[in-house]
Amino acid sequence: MRIEHHLARLAEQAIRETLELPETAPAMLRRTSDARHGDYQVNGLLPLGKRLGRPPRELAGPVAVRLAQAPAIWSAEVAGPGFVNLRVDPRWLGERLTDDLRDTTRDGVPPVERPETVVIDFSSPNIAKQMHVGHLRSTILGDAIQRQLRFLGHRVIADNHLGDWGTQFGLLIVGMRRWGSQEALERAPIEELERVYRLASERAREDEEVAEAARAELAKLQEGDEENVRLWKAFVEASRRELDRVYERLDVHFDEWLGESAYHDMLPGVVDRLRREGLAREDQGALCIFWNELERPEVPEKLRKQKEPFIVRKRDGAFLYSTTDIATVLYRQEHFAADTSVYVVDVRQALHFEQVFTVARLLGVPMRLVHVGFGTVLGADGKPLRTRDGGTVRLAELLDEAERRAAERIRSEGLDIEEAELGRMARAVGIGAVKYADLRQHRLSDYRFDWDKMISFKGNAGPYLQYAHARIRSIFRKGDVDPGAVASEAEIVLEHDAELELARVLARFGDVCHEAAEHFEPHRLCEHLYGLARAFSGFYEACPILRAEEPTRSRRLALAALTARQLARGLDLLGIAAPERM
Ligand code: ARG
Repeated sequence: MRIEHHLARLAEQAIRETLELPETAPAMLRRTSDARHGDYQVNGLLPLGKRLGRPPRELAGPVAVRLAQAPAIWSAEVAGPGFVNLRVDPRWLGERLTDDLRDTTRDGVPPVERPETVVIDFSSPNIAKQMHVGHLRSTILGDAIQRQLRFLGHRVIADNHLGDWGTQFGLLIVGMRRWGSQEALERAPIEELERVYRLASERAREDEEVAEAARAELAKLQEGDEENVRLWKAFVEASRRELDRVYERLDVHFDEWLGESAYHDMLPGVVDRLRREGLAREDQGALCIFWNELERPEVPEKLRKQKEPFIVRKRDGAFLYSTTDIATVLYRQEHFAADTSVYVVDVRQALHFEQVFTVARLLGVPMRLVHVGFGTVLGADGKPLRTRDGGTVRLAELLDEAERRAAERIRSEGLDIEEAELGRMARAVGIGAVKYADLRQHRLSDYRFDWDKMISFKGNAGPYLQYAHARIRSIFRKGDVDPGAVASEAEIVLEHDAELELARVLARFGDVCHEAAEHFEPHRLCEHLYGLARAFSGFYEACPILRAEEPTRSRRLALAALTARQLARGLDLLGIAAPERM
């Protein structure tokens, strides 16, 4: 159920009908901060009164009377300058939660009314280089977003826009031929490619012959030279194998792997079109878009003031990251007929995307384009996370450490886990902890990478939520109760205050799923799950379950079953495993 959605619609209808308005005014429903005033507050009559030139309290009176008649509402009272305070009817709430309990396929979360085709561009590391924590953030966030949008019924195309093309391949080809080892490329591909690349670029700086050779090899590659294309493919495939291992560990999957190379053939056409349509012009041999020269309403004020042009072809004829992204937008429009294209990329690329999106609008692309930016992962010193010697943190090593630390923690907590299970559990807990630590923050904020807080069974952390879920499951095992039977037969009836408290949280799940997906903000779901786990522990302390008499026992089991399902579903929508026992 979506309780807030439901109450807001009720309030809007009541406002419109009692005041005989020609159209709906927003209800501005808020949760009350103080339970003594009720569960929700309708604030919309204040701005409305101002607009209509009538005292809000006067408008609020009949609206409250009308609202009090709705089955969902226990009481509606006018308060303050013209708020309406609402209390939800516990019987109605219990019935709706029982509906959610019966709905084992969606747990009561309705799909969106208008499903869209959404391309999500995420992870997108550069091959022949280590994936770093920035790509980890994009991967974790992008995956949570794809899971949530799919669950709500959208058609999602998860696209890994690999950085698999560009000037570095000239150097890599020269480097591999002269100094590379085939054996090392097989064994540790990314390391070998990095080594060769470093060597080649060093030599190219010192020795013009090497630099010239790299340019020549690059040109040959771009012209489709068989041998160079074969080498390039070998680099891509070797990198892919290593990337695949990381994605496997993270349980992240893509529908498409349209890397930058996929758009190579489109680039001359794109650049021609930009020139033909008068958007780009030549400047010192390069082809550029000058925002301060374009008198077009599509260009936002901020870009208009910008002197630096958006370069789409360099003087030497090479295309850029920007050119490829323009081609990519056109491709997603034509090929997928996408309604929306979402880019989960570091917020430091905001200007790049603003320029790409503006070009897309100038070219008449109707697709909604969204840059879902994110902040930086910091180390304990508050600076961007690095290894002790200042290098980039390797993703695979970071995940190894997560699993190792999780195993330690599981042992020291004395959890009920068999030795044979420990490896699997450590993965679920360690990887889940890393993901949750990332997702619980607002994505735009930077956050400190802190192993101890992250792998914790107590605070706001992934393992705590996994544990909360497993603990509810264990109640069912202990009482030898079949959760399936509870789901199909038991009723949720709310009597105790602690039951009501838990029910109020459970009732928001649908709202939260929709809001998190709409704003591309998984942290909203994290907040909900954390609140839910805490509400459950309050309930569990106040209300015995297995020891209670019937019918209370079944009713409480029903609440517990729904809580466990929401926790499991919510974790799944974040890409986090929810083990049955811990
Ligand atoms: N490969 C890029 C990087 O590592 C990210 C690509 C993001 N997607 C895009 N369409 N530009 O910074």
